[in-house]
Amino acid sequence: MKPHISMFLLLVAAGTAQAQTTPPPGRLLASNCFQCHGTNGSGGFDRLAGMSANEIVSELKEMRMKSSPDIMDAHARGYTDAQLQLIGTYFASLRSSTSTSGDSHDD
Ligand code: HEC
Repeated sequence: MKPHISMFLLLVAAGTAQAQTTPPPGRLLASNCFQCHGTNGSGGFDRLAGMSANEIVSELKEMRMKSSPDIMDAHARGYTDAQLQLIGTYFASLRSSTSTSGDSHDD
């Protein structure tokens, strides 16, 4: 019985993943930041959208080193370097899209 159930869940998960359009890399990780920094990194505390990836990554790496971590430092500690890079790259990619319409045309 058990193998059948897990197989079924696997198929459902695979089907769901295929049905949705793939989000841009880093968006899922970055969505954890939206609650405080605003959806897509604007409208909350410090604006993240439009910062360069390097800026974001190096700020977060610095925060990790703090000896008495505040809320941001605690968040920074939860990610690997590779994940920080993905998050930084995602927010940097939002540089020109200041609208909230969600369409992604470049100009
Ligand atoms: C619980 C709320 C909260 C969450 C979640 C959160 N932040 Fe922050 N963040 C803050 C606050 C408050 C500040 C400003 C105070 C500070 O620097 O500690 C800040 C500051 C920053 C700064 C410095 C900005 C500047 O202009 O100096 C960066 C970069 C940043 N956050 C990135 C992130 C990223 C990336 C995530 C997701 C991984 C994230 N934050 C998640 C609350 C949050």
